[in-house]
Amino acid sequence: MKTIVILISGRGSNMEAILRARLPVRVSCVISNDPDAKGLATARAQGIATAVVPHRDFQVRAEFDAALAASIDVHQPDLIVLAGFMRILTDGFIARYHGRLMNIHPSLLPSFPGLHTHRHALAAGVRIHGCTVHFLTPAVDRGPIIVQAAVAVLPGDSEEALSARVLREEHRIYPQAIRWFCEGRLSLSPDGTVAVHGARAGENALENALRSPVVE
Ligand code: GRF
Repeated sequence: MKTIVILISGRGSNMEAILRARLPVRVSCVISNDPDAKGLATARAQGIATAVVPHRDFQVRAEFDAALAASIDVHQPDLIVLAGFMRILTDGFIARYHGRLMNIHPSLLPSFPGLHTHRHALAAGVRIHGCTVHFLTPAVDRGPIIVQAAVAVLPGDSEEALSARVLREEHRIYPQAIRWFCEGRLSLSPDGTVAVHGARAGENALENALRSPVVE
């Protein structure tokens, strides 16, 4: 059975969705850069080991990353799952775990990298928005895409309403992507694309959750 470590910075709802999915994996630790991250308590309540590597204790990014790597390596994980982990990682850290770092981003990449994705999507007037699970590379929010889910942007949508609709899809596709990884069904080609092997009925690397918006 594969071993995963989950990195969080806050609420931890994606982490919870991953735990709820009862994947055939061993979650050996949940690590946060913030001692007050709400998700830590949730993990502990489920009997999962937790660790904190507070970024504020480090003046230099590379030193924080070295401490984080040390905390991860204790568990020898097959996969490191970033679930709302809000620190930018150094190129050295990313290279160390090449092909073993997964992230979720709340937009249909490559549209809307960075922060405040829902606000930017509304401002741009896009009709379709969503989320992306991808492997991490040094170029922030540009790594090879594993799976995406799309939601319709509805007339009159607020940032909160759109974000909640996207989050529901995040909770659906992140466990899916981890399952594919753990079943050995993902391959990362040198050109930077991901293939999903042996797709079964109902599985699709574009999980399209669009519903026709009803406009009166
Ligand atoms: C999610 O929207 C994720 O895509 C983004 O940060 C948010 C984290 O939420 N990177 P949670 O901590 O998983 O609830």
